[in-house]
Amino acid sequence: MSTTAPSTPPEVVGDNPLSEGLERLPVHPTNLAIFGATGDLSNRKLLPALYNLAHDGALPERFNLVGISRSEMTDEEFRKLATEAVRKYSRRTPDDAVLARLFENARYVPGTFDQPDLYAGLEQAMQAFDEDAHQRLNRCFYLSTAPTFFPVIVGNLGEQGLNRLEGAEVRVIIEKPFGTTLEEAVELNRQVLSVFDEHQVFRIDHYLGKETVQNIMAFRFANGMFEPLWNRNYIDNIQITAAEDLGIGTRAGYYDSAGAMRDLIQNHMLQLLCHVAMEPPVKLTADDVRNEKVKVLHAIAAPADADIPGMAVRGQYAHGAVGGVEVPGYTEEEGVPEHSRTETYAAIRLEVDNWRWAGVPFYLRTGKRLARKVTEIAVALRPVPHLGFEREGSLGAHPNLLVMTLQPGEGVSLQLAARIPGARMRLTPVHMEYLYDTSFMSQSPDAYERLILDALRGDATLFTRSDEVEAQWRIIDPVLEAWASSPEPPPRYRAGSSGPAEAERILQPGHRWRAI
Ligand code: BG6
Repeated sequence: MSTTAPSTPPEVVGDNPLSEGLERLPVHPTNLAIFGATGDLSNRKLLPALYNLAHDGALPERFNLVGISRSEMTDEEFRKLATEAVRKYSRRTPDDAVLARLFENARYVPGTFDQPDLYAGLEQAMQAFDEDAHQRLNRCFYLSTAPTFFPVIVGNLGEQGLNRLEGAEVRVIIEKPFGTTLEEAVELNRQVLSVFDEHQVFRIDHYLGKETVQNIMAFRFANGMFEPLWNRNYIDNIQITAAEDLGIGTRAGYYDSAGAMRDLIQNHMLQLLCHVAMEPPVKLTADDVRNEKVKVLHAIAAPADADIPGMAVRGQYAHGAVGGVEVPGYTEEEGVPEHSRTETYAAIRLEVDNWRWAGVPFYLRTGKRLARKVTEIAVALRPVPHLGFEREGSLGAHPNLLVMTLQPGEGVSLQLAARIPGARMRLTPVHMEYLYDTSFMSQSPDAYERLILDALRGDATLFTRSDEVEAQWRIIDPVLEAWASSPEPPPRYRAGSSGPAEAERILQPGHRWRAI
């Protein structure tokens, strides 16, 4: 199935109630403050995303940036730093005029996040922008800091009265991780929601901003042919993989206290599961979509202690070679304690106990320093009930498999059985596929572009709601506790392999992990 992009854009409005949610909300004039503006995430992702939005003309006419962080710096120095970050990390080569215009008014407020003075300085900077515009601009606070500062910043924004503004909207974007346990997430929600209302809060999960993740909804809910099959009667099992060939780089400080389960499964991978398993929402509005996702999470029982060894596996990479290059083991990485037991690989088998999915295993696995980078969702259909071909003929018949590849080589592929030309009847798997690259000739925006724009619009569809984040932790917490109290260290796997052999243990009879 090779597709080409239609020459005229397809209509999105019509009788289909799903399309109503696609109507764009306007982007209001906004003052955006980034806490942690000189940090890695800001440099690599946020500032380049702002540039690309400006390049596309997607930012509002009045858009002002305030950078906040500990280092002492002048406005001019911050503008220079922001400009350099865009030049280094933007997906497009920046246009000098657009770049200069984007940061020409940018302000910088130095200070530690617990200092009331810092918030007075921020208020002053934002007021000056409002006066210049002769109107109250919306305000958006982006918390791109270490998570320990989230409650401190939110608390201070509340105490200094920066959480509301008459005649304009105030929003807060909170980066991950949102807590490191269920208890912490509940407490953080309590703190945040004592200052802001839920509709003001945008909890980031960058996977939700990926084109390919949004495409799961388009694929499922805009094509009639798969929906009748999308249930326990036809689907045998679902495998969601987020494999990475990279190690932990310079992030030992964060990663060693997080581990693979918290880093990828608790958030991104459970979100992927929700997209695959949820019922079609009545509309694609923030609450309709999130209500459906929360129902999926509630249908997953929190793992019981006795079941955990048979449903979850961890691992830690040892020295090995990735892509022909020798790499150190996890505990030899800079900044990692010598006896660290942090898992760099995690796999779990979950079931969604509802009418649609009861009995269908959902296998989720992720790991660092695996053989290659691949993020995919593989939906394996049940085998046909009877094969009438002679034995040799039927050898190549495998159950149908639908693979949605999120990266790299984004696309969808459907594996079918076909006859090999020749005198005898012999079967082999063939693939019908569509690839993003060749179907749509444009470059996909980075997830942060979409997410920042949605937050400026006040559209929370692609952000995690408070009950959703807690439901995610409720599933993961028991496994983390069991691992933390286990006397056994995580099994080792060779860097560059497909993970620990122990991962086989959680598969049901007849199931196999897909090759990485
Ligand atoms: C981040 C994790 O949230 O997601 C990283 O902290 C991980 O450890 C990254 O590498 C993966 O994101 P992507 O977009 O490259 O799949």
